[in-house]
Amino acid sequence: MTEARRATVLISGNGSNLQALIDAIDAGQLQLDINHVISNVASAKGLERAEKAGIRTSVLEHGRFENRDDFDASMALLMAAGEPDLVILAGFMRIIGPAILEPFKGRMINLHPALLPKYRGVNTYQRAIDAGDDIHGASIHFVTAELDGGPVISQVVIPILPEDTADALAERLGPREHELIVASVEFFTHHRVECDGGSIKVDGKLMEKPLLLQADGSLAA
Ligand code: GRF
Repeated sequence: MTEARRATVLISGNGSNLQALIDAIDAGQLQLDINHVISNVASAKGLERAEKAGIRTSVLEHGRFENRDDFDASMALLMAAGEPDLVILAGFMRIIGPAILEPFKGRMINLHPALLPKYRGVNTYQRAIDAGDDIHGASIHFVTAELDGGPVISQVVIPILPEDTADALAERLGPREHELIVASVEFFTHHRVECDGGSIKVDGKLMEKPLLLQADGSLAA
């Protein structure tokens, strides 16, 4: 068996996606060693989840820094501490500046609750409802300098129901997001995905469109 890959997870809030990763590790599904969880919010529930799982935690509150560059420089140092093979942004609500991006290029991924390239940024659920869309979903993408604009690895699609509110839609998407993040990270632990600049290779072949989460929780082209 190959050695588990090291991961650092960045959060800002509830951390249910972090929990999904922890549960998959505990269940033996993921060969991943999350050795550091960093939050920019001291009250984030995800920190408790990490502590309960025996994972080192750090808090770096952006409000305590003079400017974005100082925050980013400290964040990059903290992120390097765990020598991660992979950095996972799971509900991390800060823009990633160049000082953070450069050292982790090609090995930093983000979960975004929309079918990118649609609806970058916030309020994605309401925006999809307002636009009259009949589907919504979530994407896992490589982080680049462009906000929610990096190459998309994988997606999950769910229907928007006529009576849906943003909250109802978010609640229905949650469990599918958890499956998506686990299945996508599994591709990394098996060394099946890599990003070279703008394009993604899966199993050594150029990927033409994002992998799609299937009903059974697996990812398929
Ligand atoms: C998820 O919906 C994710 O798509 C978005 O923020 C939420 C994080 O949830 N970026 P959690 O903190 O993992 O529970």
